[in-house]
Amino acid sequence: GQTLTFLGLESSCDDTAAAVIRHTPGQTPQILANVVAGQTALHANFGGVVPEIAARAHAEKLDSCVQEALAEAGLALSALDGVAVTAGPGLIGGVMSGVMCAKGLAAGAGLPLIGVNHLAGHALTPRLTDQLEFPYLMLLVSGGHCQFLLVRGSDDFSRLGGTIDDAPGEAFDKTARLLGLAQPGGPSVEKEATAGEQNRFKFPRPLMNKPGCDMSFSGLKTAILRARDALVAEKGGITVQDRADICAGFQTAVRDVLVGKTERALTTYMAEDPSEPALAVAGGVAANMAIRGGLETLCKQRGVEFLAPPLRLCTDNAAMIAWAGIERYRDGQRDGMNLTARPRWPL
Ligand code: KG4
Ligand code: ZN
Repeated sequence: GQTLTFLGLESSCDDTAAAVIRHTPGQTPQILANVVAGQTALHANFGGVVPEIAARAHAEKLDSCVQEALAEAGLALSALDGVAVTAGPGLIGGVMSGVMCAKGLAAGAGLPLIGVNHLAGHALTPRLTDQLEFPYLMLLVSGGHCQFLLVRGSDDFSRLGGTIDDAPGEAFDKTARLLGLAQPGGPSVEKEATAGEQNRFKFPRPLMNKPGCDMSFSGLKTAILRARDALVAEKGGITVQDRADICAGFQTAVRDVLVGKTERALTTYMAEDPSEPALAVAGGVAANMAIRGGLETLCKQRGVEFLAPPLRLCTDNAAMIAWAGIERYRDGQRDGMNLTARPRWPL
């Protein structure tokens, strides 16, 4: 097989990223560069990502990220075999900036252009990090996504279910905000929870006992708000211990829902009789040790391998886009100058 070296670009949310991957069939893919420029500070005062600010920052940062990635890889643009770019789903301004930048690079250097679905990028990451064989089960849990995907090929995904409202990362962030903890909320809540009593507050586990793999997390934040307000009404405020107990109760509820629904998703997946069954996780929430531990235990019980890529490849990055580009290219995908940015693009 042919060795391929691809540049990848990612700009669909609040990270501008460029990366270079090299792969020879049968060998471990090499990450030659993986540059991520975050925008957290730009959006910090607004309580969320502001699309207009994000788009402008991507447009400003893309070129320098590409230059940095090429320098890190020690390669000229002409040494590449292709350019892959996130063509959706995401904030349209950012996705358009990325697609335009990729078109310019590809046209200028006469390279093939591959438009990649951002979710496919996440879903194919375990093949970059662990050469995982199809079919495997993927749980994508972040601030923006929450879904189970049965991954059968580079362009063959079945969505087994997902959140019908908020993503778990959003719930962590809102919980942190309600309790006056720092953003992003996931790490703050996890830290508080270590000193907490998980059974003091009984928070809801919506849809837990319903068939299927759909989940709901928006009711949790209402429950947290009520618990906090009840304490404030009762004694004028909440103590450090109250806060830790709420965090522990909340985290346990999220873990129980994710583990319970993963159990159902595994049953559907195992019916396909995979030769080396595996569950892979991706997304920022997969960094949570309690959630990860719950999933790992479940997998052990079911004889399923559990895989969690390193965090910098779990959260938004361009290495996953370059890699997905290589996989799609090998499977015959080619895009031209008519490649369009798609704000919505279900797998
Ligand atoms: O994948 P990611 O970096 O970006 C997208 O949302 O696409 O995920 C960020 C989300 C945030 O909501 C953050 O609070 C959450 O992941 N997160 C965590 C942890 N670390 C990050 N949630 C729970 N526990 C953590 N340790
Ligand atoms: Zn993402």
